[in-house]
Amino acid sequence: MRIQDVDPAFRHDVLQGLSAEPRAIPARWLYDPRGSALFEAITTLPEYYPTRVERSILSSAIDEIAALTGPNRAVVEFGSGSSAKTPILLSQVSPVAYVPIDISGEFLTDSAAALSDKFPRLPIYPLIADFTRGFALPDAINGAPRLGFFPGSTIGNLVVPAAVDLLRVMSTNLGAGSMLLIGIDRVKDQEILLLAYDDPKGITAAFNLNLLHRINRELGGSLPVDGFRHVVRWNDAEVRIEMHLEASRDVQFEIDGWAFSIAKGETIHTENSLKYGLRDAFVLLRAGGWTPIAEWTDQDEFFSLILAKQGSALSAP
Ligand code: AVJ
Repeated sequence: MRIQDVDPAFRHDVLQGLSAEPRAIPARWLYDPRGSALFEAITTLPEYYPTRVERSILSSAIDEIAALTGPNRAVVEFGSGSSAKTPILLSQVSPVAYVPIDISGEFLTDSAAALSDKFPRLPIYPLIADFTRGFALPDAINGAPRLGFFPGSTIGNLVVPAAVDLLRVMSTNLGAGSMLLIGIDRVKDQEILLLAYDDPKGITAAFNLNLLHRINRELGGSLPVDGFRHVVRWNDAEVRIEMHLEASRDVQFEIDGWAFSIAKGETIHTENSLKYGLRDAFVLLRAGGWTPIAEWTDQDEFFSLILAKQGSALSAP
């Protein structure tokens, strides 16, 4: 990739994030084509329960979900990635259109093509966008009531005020009469959480470290990738899993002419994954302009799938 092809927002977030105290780079930049492929590999790991558990909840709840949503909605999926869970939904809710939104363009095109093979009569309008920065839905779905689909507990990547902002944007953009089906990862034993984000095969480590390769490749950086290691922490006060890249020795490097030095033991914070209790999740949705109407979980209560309707009361008696 040539320097002029680089997303200026990536350059800005990296240069700014590496100069900040504490150092942090937004998690969205983990998803270049290689990062997206590594994340897909993570979803098949036995330790990474969210994907497996959410898919099984969706499969068992789908008839009830379809009865509650009714037919003829435009399904809008946020962070669709490989769209692995989507066929379960699309085959049961009788949608009139499907709009997958993802930041990773190449991934989006491939998975939209695969889905149109499976659902040849369903109009599909892929949208390459960072939906956390707002999005405009295609005119083609004007008039159809919307069903937002936001699986995977991606909402957990956002700190609470940002999560509320995003839910409010979704509420406004999906509009009156819309519904939202959202997956939210629950609070659980620390050991289970830590293992889910630090698997013994090192796939999650490779996913995290890929960010440094991406910086070197796209921004002409000289980061010594072997000078960093993948570190996962449970932050109890913030109720979240954190991924960091920790310098295993003093490192010096340059990015686009800017010099950085990071001391041994210092970290670059690369991702948050907030976990919610069930009632926390309900409060979050209401704050974001949605009223929960049904919830499904697994035996262990590891993960929740929540259906909400647009709007929440701004005042009460
Ligand atoms: C796709 C953001 C939901 O936070 O669990 C998986 C990303 N990071 N392993 C998550 C992720 C490390 C994942 N989300």
